Order: sequence, then structure tokens, then C-alpha cells
Amino acid sequence: MNKTILITGSSTGLGHLTAKHFAKNGWNVAATMRSPEKETELNKIPNIKVIKLDITQPETIKLAMEESISAFGKIDVIVNNAGIGMYGALELTADTDIDKQYAVNVKGVINVIRTFLPHFREQRAGRFINIGSVMGLSTALPLGSLYNMSKFALEGLTEGLYFELKPLNIDLHLVEPGGFESNFGANITFSKSDTIKDYDIITSKVEATLNAAKKQGATANPMTVVNTIYDLASGKNKNFRTIVGKDAKTVLLLRKVLPIKNFLNLLGKKFTS
Ligand SMILES: NC(=O)c1ccc[n+]([C@@H]2O[C@H](COP(=O)([O-])OP(=O)(O)OC[C@H]3O[C@@H](n4cnc5c(N)ncnc54)[C@H](OP(=O)(O)O)[C@@H]3O)[C@@H](O)[C@H]2O)c1
Repeated sequence: MNKTILITGSSTGLGHLTAKHFAKNGWNVAATMRSPEKETELNKIPNIKVIKLDITQPETIKLAMEESISAFGKIDVIVNNAGIGMYGALELTADTDIDKQYAVNVKGVINVIRTFLPHFREQRAGRFINIGSVMGLSTALPLGSLYNMSKFALEGLTEGLYFELKPLNIDLHLVEPGGFESNFGANITFSKSDTIKDYDIITSKVEATLNAAKKQGATANPMTVVNTIYDLASGKNKNFRTIVGKDAKTVLLLRKVLPIKNFLNLLGKKFTS
């Protein structure tokens, strides 16, 4: 029987590519997204089922689980991929955006895990692959405190769950990418202010960096991340944490060898002077 993977946030970027790659390799794919009516490519691939799922709405997760199991019999792997980025000086960020960062990147993942655990427990098998970030292990760009917070939280959540899920034969993995081409940059919410000038310099420099990263070819080929997810899902890579991308590896090496303040000052230099 073919294996089945369910991916959240399959409408664009890493999720979309991951869905196509697994389908190409013979897996059944539940490609879930908030607005399946907008999808034009994945629904033409025979072993992909495009299903509505908003990770902030538990009832859609339950329905998506039922639809996937009815289509494919069971789920073997869940990729918690859906995520958003709230950037900007914390003082300038709207309360609603702070809540949204947590609601999607942390509570959304919790919602998905809690919904699928009964299924995984019943079959005494299952694998969660959580898409973290280098920003879950270290700050890597100024004005990312909220995104950092959310991805650090995902690290704690995933590590903390290990003990209770291991005896049930449910595996957990974290993928920690650096910068890879996707819609992530275009989807970032970036807070600015017309009246508070104290953050103007750092805001304009970080914004310029984020804009430069949006250009095609400016960041690395996302298939490296997709291949990492594939190796984890198929059991070839058994690591709990996999760091992906030269930029991520460099940041984490610098963080390891430098005293923290030297590391932070080095990282922040080009954004503050
Ligand atoms: N690309 C990178 O450089 C990079 C680096 C490190 C980590 N990551 C992580 O990789 C993951 C995928 O991001 P990406 O780079 O592929 O960015 P992306 O192209 O912006 O994709 C994000 C996906 O998340 C979905 N999403 C947002 N809110 C959702 C919700 N409430 N329920 C379900 N889906 C929701 C989006 O769907 P809609 O189309 O409906 O908005 C979209 O499909 C994220 O967790 C991100 O933090 C990316």
C-alpha cells in the first residue's frame, strides 16, 4: 500500500513543491490549504487530493483528516509547513498581528498535532515533520522578534512532545531552513510607523533586505528543503533536527563560536550604522 502524507500550507512555496515531489515519487498526498478553490495545478495530479484546511480552525482540520483517511485509508506523515512572518519593531506591531503570529505558527501546529494524534495512536505509527527555521535556533535578522518567538516555541513544543510520543511509535522531526525561494517574503507583514521615527533606520534597512530577498534567484533553491522533507518522511534521515542551507549553517556556527553579544553585534552591524 502506498504511503500517505498530509501537508499544511500547500497553496504556495515549500508546501506546493513538497506536494508535487511526493506525488511524483508515488506517495498519496493530501495537499491541504485555506483556499482549495484557487488551486489550479495540484488538483490535476491523480494521487493528490486537494483539501481545505486552515490550521487556526480546528473544525477544518478534523474534516480534512476525515476526508484524507476516507480517500487514502490512513495517514503516515504530517508536514506542519503552514507559517507566516510578522516583522517590524515590536512597539509598532498591532496587537492583532502579535496574536496572529502565535495563532498560526504555534497554536496552529498544536491544533494539527492534537487532531491527528488519535489516528496515529490507534495505528501505533506516525510521523510529524515540523518546518521550523534557523530563526527558531538563533536570531538571524533584526526586527524578527515575533517570528523568532514563534519558531523558538516550535522547537520547545517539538522537543517537549518527544517523551510522550516515543513510546507510541510516533516520530518527530524539525527542519530548520535558512532563506529559500518561496512566497514567504511576499507574504510577510511588516510594521512601520509614520510618527515614531526612532526605528526608521533599522526599519528601512531590514525592509530593503527583505525586498532584495524576494527577487527571483536571490535565495537558495527550495528543492533542497523538499528533498530533506522527503528523506525524513521515508525514514532515510532519522535526525531529530536537520539544518538546511549554507546561510543557516553559517549563522549557527557563528553563534556557537562567538560570545552572544559579539554575535548579535556582528549580525546587527549593517542594519544599525
Ligand atoms: N522560505 C524560507 O526561506 C523559509 C525559511 C525558514 C522557514 N520557512 C518556513 O517554511 C514554511 C513554509 O513557508 P514558505 O516559505 O513556503 O512560505 P509561503 O510560500 O508564504 O507559504 C506559506 C503557506 O502557509 C499557508 N498558511 C498561512 N496561514 C495559514 C493558515 N492559517 N492555515 C493554513 N495554511 C496557512 C499559506 O497559505 P495561503 O496561500 O492561504 O496564505 C501558504 O500556503 C513556513 O512555516 C515558514 O516559516 C521558510
